[in-house]
Amino acid sequence: MTTTSPVAAGAQAAPKHAGKVHVQTYGCQMNEYDSELVKTLLDKCGFELTADEREAGILLINTCAVRETAHTRIYARLGDLTAEKKRGSGRVVGMLGCMSQNLQDELLEKFPAVDFVCGPDSYRDLPGLIDRARTGGERGAAVELSEYETYEDIAPTRVEGVNGWIAIMRGCDKFCTFCVVPYTRGRERSRDPQGIVDETQRLVDAGYKQVTLLGQNVNSYRHDDTDFAALMERVAEVGIPRVRFTSPHPRDFPMHLLEVIARHDNLCKQIHLPLQSGNDRVLRKMNRKYTRDEFLALAERIRETIPGVALSTDIICGFPGETDAEYEDTVDLVRRVAFESAYTFKYSERKGTIAAKLHADDVPEAVKSERVTNLVRIQREIQHRWNRRFLGKTMRVLVEGTSKKDPTMWRARTDHNVIAVFRDPAIRVGDLCDVRVDEVTPNTLIGERVEIDG
Ligand code: SAH
Ligand code: SF4
Ligand code: F3S
Repeated sequence: MTTTSPVAAGAQAAPKHAGKVHVQTYGCQMNEYDSELVKTLLDKCGFELTADEREAGILLINTCAVRETAHTRIYARLGDLTAEKKRGSGRVVGMLGCMSQNLQDELLEKFPAVDFVCGPDSYRDLPGLIDRARTGGERGAAVELSEYETYEDIAPTRVEGVNGWIAIMRGCDKFCTFCVVPYTRGRERSRDPQGIVDETQRLVDAGYKQVTLLGQNVNSYRHDDTDFAALMERVAEVGIPRVRFTSPHPRDFPMHLLEVIARHDNLCKQIHLPLQSGNDRVLRKMNRKYTRDEFLALAERIRETIPGVALSTDIICGFPGETDAEYEDTVDLVRRVAFESAYTFKYSERKGTIAAKLHADDVPEAVKSERVTNLVRIQREIQHRWNRRFLGKTMRVLVEGTSKKDPTMWRARTDHNVIAVFRDPAIRVGDLCDVRVDEVTPNTLIGERVEIDG
């Protein structure tokens, strides 16, 4: 299928679907984005969408496969839906996303409640799959991976908001040995930059204040002569107040990008740079293709070029064969780089990955947990120190909503992606305003709104 093909067969047909569709999303931002795409596609084909799961005749579950915890949650959900179906709900259940791509047979075999599975490159098949399920046809699977599908012609439906996600590329060719994504999302392909610029403009017109460009590995973005740095520059020039992106790979980092970020006020001074491990032998086994020294040198170069930049990261503890000493190398690197935030995961063996084929998952669960807990504690100390630097300073923040802990306070984010909370009855969601930081915790800045002249 090419990028210029019609939205889906039957796009012009009169609405004939009685049941309303509800889409539920697990996993990463890419999945959130895809769920929005799916809603647009179905809306164009005459389906009625609902935000209320209870009134949905058609339930679509967009799944994640990155770690076992994602599986467990979705399997529990499917257990409930099977019980519901046995009681005669008659509801159509379709599974989308990464797990559907990866475990199509298992899902259909284990869960009679599942009417069809549909992988991330096959969403144009959804209207047909739903119709077949509604008319009692055979259970279906659409799981072809494509080298071309970018859903270029479908502008995702968005709920009103502050931040809009834009997928700039799909798939991943890096094959880190622990990771399932290259198998669930297929080969890397980049979208036309003009489409991305147009989508950003539509977000601005709709009142959005921030756009986040998404790709599994944005360093590889390339469309004709446009590389990722050139794309960022074009998006910056659209004039939305904040632009973020996730994630670059520490290998082949586009240095030119750093100057582009430094030059544009609306490109946020925050970079997510997934480390995974601080030990060279483990990095090699993970197929990350950089060493700890190269990572350190890159972090320093980034800090020199973009003063005050915030670096965040992802870390895996307990990769096969990881010794205590190798884990300590990770701890040491985390201390040296002093990330402003880190997501720390226990290694989770994924079926079909290179690591699962080559290496026994031999680090005991208790050791993995201990390593994660220790790293989380160290990272909290680093973050607390990082946040203390803001005490007494005034920071520009973007208001996202109310604080979960205290609904009388606003929850906002600094350019560095740090959460700030404050009170002010005159503020609304989506406002950019200035907050003086009076108190800090490892995760939050607490302050008061101030007016800055000029
Ligand atoms: N493409 C993104 C990562 C996507 S997955 C990137 O490279 O930045 C997000 C994170 O999940 C990864 O960075 C990694 O830390 C973690 N992860 C992926 N596979 C995992 C596994 N099998 N076990 C534990 N954590 C994993
Ligand atoms: Fe997975 Fe590595 Fe690709 Fe990220 S870069 S999605 S960790 S294979
Ligand atoms: Fe995202 Fe999970 Fe797929 S992290 S890419 S939804 S495996």
